[in-house]
Amino acid sequence: MLQPLFSRYFAANPGRLHFAAHSHHPWPDATREAHLRCWEDGASLADRKWERVFGEVVPRAQGHVARLLQLSDPRQVAFAPNTHEFVARLLSCLPADRPARVLTSAHEFHSFRRQARRLQEAGRIAITEIPGEPWGTFTERFATAASAGAWDLVWLSHAFFDSGFVVQDLDAIAAAAPRDSLVAFDGYHAFCALPVDLSRVHRRAFYLAGGYKYAMSGEGACFLAVPPGATCVP
Ligand SMILES: Cc1ncc(COP(=O)(O)O)c(C=O)c1O
Repeated sequence: MLQPLFSRYFAANPGRLHFAAHSHHPWPDATREAHLRCWEDGASLADRKWERVFGEVVPRAQGHVARLLQLSDPRQVAFAPNTHEFVARLLSCLPADRPARVLTSAHEFHSFRRQARRLQEAGRIAITEIPGEPWGTFTERFATAASAGAWDLVWLSHAFFDSGFVVQDLDAIAAAAPRDSLVAFDGYHAFCALPVDLSRVHRRAFYLAGGYKYAMSGEGACFLAVPPGATCVP
């Protein structure tokens, strides 16, 4: 039924069946139109493109993300080409005068894991990773660790990229983290795959995701929902 919306993908891959539920999706035809329109706007409006970008495109996109995630204020949604950039921006908010204490899982995507491990090698952060197994107690064990340390950053995937395991109780984890810590959830594998309702947690935690997987927007469109009133604004 949706096949006509992917005509270019199927024309390029005749007869191919696509079953990648937990991965990247074919790009629908609408993404070509959108990318072309972006080029047209940039080339034809030149320096006047910002009115189009910040006056029209960004507010509409913010509204879509806020609606899908149940955020109270769409203006809290920031955009970047990839989550790697948001990781760098959030890490830049950590204290620089001592190694920052970071709690995370042993199953974070490369964009976070690689940057974080490199900073650890350089002595700038100290990472504690909570193993996934036994899965039945993961959320409880993670929340206990979150409440037991003086963390500067608590970083956790909502759905794990390497197993599909879903953290059910983001609220409990955010509530367990120290009051002055940054809490960030990587929702890339949840966004547009699961119903996500952040109404109870978005005032406390950052939530990032992007369009390349289940939202099927094509590349280059990631977002970060910033808690209203956050004093650290990456
Ligand atoms: C959990 C998770 N976070 C983030 C990303 C994307 O990271 P980036 O936008 O930096 O390529 C992915 C992509 O596979 C992912 O699975």
